[in-house]
Amino acid sequence: MFAPTARPEVLALRRSAIRDVANEAWGRPDVLTFWFGESDRPTPAFIREAGARALSEGRTFYTHNLGTAELRGALSDYLGGLHGRPIGTERIAVANSGVNALMLAAQAVVSPGDRVVVVTPVWPNVMEIPRILSATVEGVSLEAAQGKWRLDLDRLMDALTPDTRMLVINSPNNPTGWTLPAQDRAAILARCRQYGIWLVGDDVYERLTFDGRASAPSFLELAKDGDRVIGCNTFSKAWRMTGWRLGWMVLPPELMEPMGVLLEYNTSCAPDFVQAAAATALRDGEAYVAEVRAELAAAKDQVLAALRAMPGVEAPEPDGGMYAFFRVAGCTDSVALAKQIIEAAGVGLAPGVAFGDEGEGWLRWCFANRPEKNAAGLERLAGFLAR
Ligand SMILES: Cc1ncc(COP(=O)(O)O)c(C=O)c1O
Repeated sequence: MFAPTARPEVLALRRSAIRDVANEAWGRPDVLTFWFGESDRPTPAFIREAGARALSEGRTFYTHNLGTAELRGALSDYLGGLHGRPIGTERIAVANSGVNALMLAAQAVVSPGDRVVVVTPVWPNVMEIPRILSATVEGVSLEAAQGKWRLDLDRLMDALTPDTRMLVINSPNNPTGWTLPAQDRAAILARCRQYGIWLVGDDVYERLTFDGRASAPSFLELAKDGDRVIGCNTFSKAWRMTGWRLGWMVLPPELMEPMGVLLEYNTSCAPDFVQAAAATALRDGEAYVAEVRAELAAAKDQVLAALRAMPGVEAPEPDGGMYAFFRVAGCTDSVALAKQIIEAAGVGLAPGVAFGDEGEGWLRWCFANRPEKNAAGLERLAGFLAR
């Protein structure tokens, strides 16, 4: 008899510590939750209506593996405007979410035993996806100093060795809000060119910036023909479409044909009516994205100011995204503290260790919520920490 067990790489995957905490209080109406990365508001009506219209027209069939011509065309127009240079449809593939885009990109370029480098702390999926493919993953940790998160560029350069296959940079970063400075991009790209390293940008928060710009610095603005650069993105965050499960990739044209094959064997295609809604989001959604960005900037100020006023709390300033990543003096077990805060204060937060060992001692607050909800949660947490 052979035991019915999964592959060792799958058994070794880290369990999500966010789920570990959230499962404790699932469905409890007395707990205000800030643990997941999504807004408390639904997708705006103009996008929902476009999806409903496409459904009522009967757009319920398979589409091309790479996505509909309508959506890829809308993405090309959108990305060209955003990054100030043409990004043609021959470089654009639609994926079934941002996480699916990251998985497909890794499947396309990572082999068993390959070395992958990731800037950390980071959303757990970014670390675990290459491990599913039997790669080894090494983190290069951001540092918090003088109220800001920083990347030590020399340390990253040292980690980018000739045997490195892929580098993943999530900027703006989940959970810290750190954003890669524009001036650091050229050196990173040059090192990747030197060693043939695939540079994958997890750009899902690129529209959620707090410096007044419409988008965070992107490697897509520097990449030339022949570069091993991939951009992974999603409709989840900027258009509040988490439940629709739709994303996209920008790829070198050479990767498009194999990506079509991978898409066939993963999901075959994204739903047509969802792609129709997304095309409307791109064409008519700029004012809405600006609204989301402004609401998040105000929520960031609200939550950071209140956290910093609490005893023993250190909360560096995020440059973008939708999270406050903060430390409570004396905390060495973020899962235990998160559970204690649920029980004693009725506030649900994500434990920092979920984002890597370097996140231990920290907690993450998703502030993409209405001001009243953030305020009520902050009041409860302040009461708890004062006790
Ligand atoms: C850093 C990062 N990348 C990718 C994603 C994927 O988002 P989705 O799968 O909803 O498109 C998320 C979602 O929280 C994220 O935080």
